[in-house]
Amino acid sequence: MTILAIETSCDETSAAVVKNYGAIARIRSNIVASQVKLHAKTGGVVPEVAAREHIRPIIPTIEGTLHHAKIRLMDIDVIAVTVGPGLHTALSVGLETAKALSYSLGLPLIPVNHLRGHIAANWNNRSPKLPALCLIVSGGHTELVLIDRHRHIKLLGATRDDAAGEAFDKVAQLLGLGYPGGPAISALAARGNPHAFDLPRPMLEHKNLDFSFSGLKTAVRYLVDKHPLLTKEGKPRQQRAGVVADTCASFQQAIVDVLVAKTMRAARQHRPKEVLLAGGVAANTELRRRLAGEVKKLAWKPSYRQPPPELCTDNAGMIGLAAAYFPHTTKQTVWKTLDIQPSLSI
Ligand code: KG4
Ligand code: ZN
Repeated sequence: MTILAIETSCDETSAAVVKNYGAIARIRSNIVASQVKLHAKTGGVVPEVAAREHIRPIIPTIEGTLHHAKIRLMDIDVIAVTVGPGLHTALSVGLETAKALSYSLGLPLIPVNHLRGHIAANWNNRSPKLPALCLIVSGGHTELVLIDRHRHIKLLGATRDDAAGEAFDKVAQLLGLGYPGGPAISALAARGNPHAFDLPRPMLEHKNLDFSFSGLKTAVRYLVDKHPLLTKEGKPRQQRAGVVADTCASFQQAIVDVLVAKTMRAARQHRPKEVLLAGGVAANTELRRRLAGEVKKLAWKPSYRQPPPELCTDNAGMIGLAAAYFPHTTKQTVWKTLDIQPSLSI
């Protein structure tokens, strides 16, 4: 079965062709038209602007992905589209485009949960080993979930306030590093000392599997307010750059410590066959390295998977994969019955 997948939940307009062979599915082409440069000017995503910016590239992106996969529109069997969670207006552009195609071509639609897409990014061209434990870390979500043998998903823990990606973005803003913050912090952290500043590890000692990152963000704000080199631009540039790098490294260390510790706690409790990392923050080199290392130490030797960085951040390939790997929650339907679900949970 050939799936055309569409994703417009936030600030990336993306279309992909995914082949579903039954036991496994494979991305044939995956094109992302990013709005990142536009939102960098405002320091974050303005929903209305994001929606407007999806309209212009959506058809060229679909055209491009078909071309890249060397197929025509009439070769498509089904259309998969993100219905939530995400920005109301942004989701609408993808869904309305999918509905128009479904109506005109007489093709069924598959509504896809964006978070399931992030999980399924781990299974490109590879069948899942279940039960699987997945840490989902994105701009809007931080969740630990268990996918059982029937592919039902159980939420084990979640953030009580900010998401991990949101914390990266807010701290980057405090340090004047622009948007999105994750890649900038990650690059600077590589040059900094992770032990330079003693930042809190929120909820690390709590026995549950929940997270909280707003306190960590506030601690960085206090640091920025107090530290003479972080507040005053007039100091020697090189000296300031060193302290900014140390702040990034210390912050990243704190957040990775908590994410890894909680994932390991969940793994010991549920003994999954594989441990997965997913979401935009899964592109973080330090998180990837640390989680991979800790999973290796587990006695029952589960496998460890993380998508390649380009499949961690939002893309339509993962939406096509979710349509293939979660068939019970992504039933084919007709365009008339579908609507967006901005607050959809996992
Ligand atoms: O999954 P995603 O593309 O969009 C949402 O569904 O939210 O995640 C975006 C988030 C942003 O907060 C961004 O700063 C973060 O992922 N991110 C990173 C890195 N690359 C992207 N965070 C840390 N390190 C990175 N290398
Ligand atoms: Zn996402």
